[in-house]
Amino acid sequence: MCGIVGYIGHRDAYPIVIKGLQRLEYRGYDSAGIALYDGASVNLCKTKGKVEDLKKKAKSEISLSGNLGIGHTRWATHGVPNDVNSHPHYSNSGDLVIIHNGIIENYESIKKELIKRGYTFESDTDTEVLVNLIEEVKLKENVMLGQAVQIALNEVVGAYAIAVFDKKKPDEIVVAKLGSPLAIGIGDNEFFIASDASPFIEFTNNAIYLEDEEMAIIRLGKEIKLRKIKNDAVAYPNILELQMNIEEIEKGGFDHFMLKEIYEQPRAILDTYRGRLLAKQGIVKMAGIDQHLDKFLNANRIIIVACGTSWHAGLVAEYIFENLARIPVEVEYASEFRYRNPIITENDVVIAISQSGETADTLAAIKLAKENGAFVFGVCNVVGSSIARETHAGAYTHAGPEIGVASTKAFTTQITVLTLLALKLAKEKELFTDSQFHEYLTELETIPSKVEKALESNPLIEIIADVYKDSTNCLYLGRGYNFPVALEGALKLKEISYIHAEGYPAAEMKHGPIALIDEHMPVFVIATNKGHYEKVVSNIQEIKSRKGKIIAIVTEGDVQVKELADHCIEIPETFESLTPLLTTIPLQLLSYHIAVMRNCNVDQPRNLAKSVTVE
Ligand code: G6P
Repeated sequence: MCGIVGYIGHRDAYPIVIKGLQRLEYRGYDSAGIALYDGASVNLCKTKGKVEDLKKKAKSEISLSGNLGIGHTRWATHGVPNDVNSHPHYSNSGDLVIIHNGIIENYESIKKELIKRGYTFESDTDTEVLVNLIEEVKLKENVMLGQAVQIALNEVVGAYAIAVFDKKKPDEIVVAKLGSPLAIGIGDNEFFIASDASPFIEFTNNAIYLEDEEMAIIRLGKEIKLRKIKNDAVAYPNILELQMNIEEIEKGGFDHFMLKEIYEQPRAILDTYRGRLLAKQGIVKMAGIDQHLDKFLNANRIIIVACGTSWHAGLVAEYIFENLARIPVEVEYASEFRYRNPIITENDVVIAISQSGETADTLAAIKLAKENGAFVFGVCNVVGSSIARETHAGAYTHAGPEIGVASTKAFTTQITVLTLLALKLAKEKELFTDSQFHEYLTELETIPSKVEKALESNPLIEIIADVYKDSTNCLYLGRGYNFPVALEGALKLKEISYIHAEGYPAAEMKHGPIALIDEHMPVFVIATNKGHYEKVVSNIQEIKSRKGKIIAIVTEGDVQVKELADHCIEIPETFESLTPLLTTIPLQLLSYHIAVMRNCNVDQPRNLAKSVTVE
């Protein structure tokens, strides 16, 4: 986690670094810091708190001039969030300045050695150890900064994306990556460094994404030099032309990114199937899978690995793959899968789902699956991310940047892409007639407009949110395709409003949660007209007889549930397997409004981060 930004060139570095940090705050936001070189000395300012706090402090404490700057927004791992533990960190001489995203696992043993050699430490961080190790190597071996960084990194175990400069050689920044993302934006004799491309997108569309174990020496007036950290081989920069635009990463009139992203879902879903879903021709085209169809068709089973909301999308996909394509599916938390000695064979297909494409546990699960001979397919949103590169093949969701920490459009677009994949396999296996297939594709094409319709319930949802905003516990129930949506609804509420919430399969309620139901317990029930409707109605009766408050998501025109529930929110009718794309919308809006009403920081909920690059 943590976000890093750097600039070297002819412009003022301060506004670029600060704005960049604000764009990367989704990665961590418990403290922030900046270091600027003004032509004579380094001006460093750091603080516990948000980038906004850093701005205030920097303005009153340091000179903001200079054409070289690095900045950091932190999600604490080693050392509590406070001013001293914030980055950047100086080396003991005060010459080297570093920012770091990741964890140096063997920092304690290195620190002991450095202390023996007379080094002192102000902070509790692993990063301050790293910068001093670089300094020690530089002085002892009498080498340039780039070489010192390389030698030092060969001594550390862990993950990192770092940027470091030497105030005695201020025309150069050295960066390196292993496990945490690092992009270099290339302008006209100016360079940008960032955890993703959002901090520099208005300045340049040309970027290099460093590969793991690569470092780069970025020097003004020179070509970027890339080399492998381990064996010193020269690496050749692959300069990509980015498609992202500035509007995508700004709030566009919405109060929060989360609300903007909820409202973007009709467009995002359309972008996910654009060019892939050809209803008239009865075709699903997915470039990433065509060469690998046999792998899927001959697979013993599909294993889905993911974390958080992506794991919930995986659960929905389990129902979709098994029902539509008749392929057995297992869904695993990546963090459990990687450590439990799973049985993986060459006949397994592993699908890794990840919005960011950087989640450490998912990445490790992929590596394990590959080592065991499985074919690994990635479903990612961030183009060029580590997971997208590590997998054998994949499909992007094309949701556009998701900045709110609570995932919304990533979830619905992941389900969309996985539905397309299942449909393609079902067609290959001749499990659909042409007309059934055509009917399915045509229905999928209506989903963006049905999501628009579902969004029209926003004013009603706001009223309902006001009624339940002070609850301390909530229960979410669903069955079949909508059981994972119940889990996702509960997760959204927990994440951003800090209300305890649990998702449950509706029928399991009587094996435990029913004991919690009384007049203070709101129960959100997904009760669409297809798929066990009558059974869900019985569950609603059970809640009602125990005086629980019922908020139901129902299909337009519903009669039965409306008579029982305290509040009903309608969604348009669709195929049962497509209902998660609609039922999730009111639950996202509900948690959003409740969080706003409770004065919670919707886009940056406490303790969370969007991209979890530590295990
Ligand atoms: C974090 C985020 C969640 C996300 C999860 C998995 O916990 O806060 O929103 O679902 O990581 O992230 P991924 O990028 O792999 O989908």
